[in-house]
Amino acid sequence: MVKQSLQSRSASPVIATSSLVLVFILQVIMAMPDVSSQSQLKEVAVSTNRFALDLHKVLSKKNAGNMFCSPLSLQVALAMASVGAGDNTKSYNEIKALLRFPDDKSKMLSSYSLLSDALTNSKDVLKMANRIYIDQKFKVKPEYLETTKKYFKSDAQAVDLLQNAAAAGAVINSWVEQQTNNKIKDLIPQGALTPETVMVLINAIHFKGDWKKAFEKEMTMKEKFYLDESKTVDVDMMHITNDYNFFHDEKLKAKFLEMPYKGDEFSMIFVLPDSKTGLAELEAAITSESFDLTKKIEGLQNSGPVKVIVSLPKFEMEQTHDTLVDTLKELGVEEIFSDKANFSNIDPNGRIKVSKIIQKAFVAVDEKGTEAAAATAQIIRKKRSLIEEKEFLAEHPFMFLIASRVSCISLFVGRYLPDSNGEHDSDSVPRDEL
Ligand SMILES: *[C@@H]1O[C@H](CO)[C@@H](O)[C@H](O)[C@H]1NC(C)=O
Repeated sequence: MVKQSLQSRSASPVIATSSLVLVFILQVIMAMPDVSSQSQLKEVAVSTNRFALDLHKVLSKKNAGNMFCSPLSLQVALAMASVGAGDNTKSYNEIKALLRFPDDKSKMLSSYSLLSDALTNSKDVLKMANRIYIDQKFKVKPEYLETTKKYFKSDAQAVDLLQNAAAAGAVINSWVEQQTNNKIKDLIPQGALTPETVMVLINAIHFKGDWKKAFEKEMTMKEKFYLDESKTVDVDMMHITNDYNFFHDEKLKAKFLEMPYKGDEFSMIFVLPDSKTGLAELEAAITSESFDLTKKIEGLQNSGPVKVIVSLPKFEMEQTHDTLVDTLKELGVEEIFSDKANFSNIDPNGRIKVSKIIQKAFVAVDEKGTEAAAATAQIIRKKRSLIEEKEFLAEHPFMFLIASRVSCISLFVGRYLPDSNGEHDSDSVPRDEL
């Protein structure tokens, strides 16, 4: 079960997007330095879109109404963790399979670096930042920090998780707020960090784009939005008529529309089923293994603009996904959450595992454009088995007893206190007293 907090900050009721699939795809239309980078980026785009749909599939099953998340943010956080997993371990390979990494780890690393450079090329539209918070007493392999810094631009910061987890949480939350234009607050809830926490990997992403052609505010009107054939809610419906890339997909029984943002680097893509109750079927088709979203988007972009009369509700939503561990388990990533987790590239002693992943996501769509933000926290802690492994070094005198486990009655008591010549006195009670 996913605990959801859904708030509509506008005066209008929460808009159930039951007849509107929102696929928030970030487009990269830019001159890449060379052909091989272009093809590498294309590969990452395919695997990123595939993961987005895999995640959508699981999350939309768990959420009846609105749903919004950033697969990219979760993907980058997971990829950062995978760098710390032991080479060729199940821990690594499960993430590799889900995120469709290439076999060559160094190629995976350069792909992520390329992806982040390409997406954040124009910093005023999209910002993405990674950071690793580490307990000041916990020793991380320096190579891990070097690699994540080089390919994920993630700075590491020491915090006192052991003594003051709450204060560390506040430090992390305020950094996330800064990175997301204050849209993501309190990412780490109270109590999520404990003295056993040793690391927190964070990805934060913020997008703010103005429509290339804005909606006219005067055209926005209260109108009905159908939840099914007859049930409706009132929404603020925005209207615009403009040339857009658009097509009707006969097979999917849905319309695809691309609305670009200023600068033409990003766009929002809408997929609207023909039928008022067609969303579930459409989602099932789009999230199926055989569907190629990347190809569909390319097709949309090459469809050539046509005049389209667009009516689109103005909306805003915020969601917390705090059971992503279960979600990822459903998607085949399990070992990193168990005591078998192998993060030997972070901690050669094999003491750590991922305990929790939290994502908060926010989106607001209005006449002017879109603001969206998300942050993912991956909390890494000491394995439980190790925390409970207290030391017991019987190197000095001690007491002992033998007791019944059922009634807790002690049957024998004793003391171990050998005498100075090293022999223990097995007859500590004088014979004549027996
Ligand atoms: C973790 O994986 C590495 C191989 O990458 C291996 O050498 C190491 O023994 C593993 N650690 C544990 C605790 O299994």
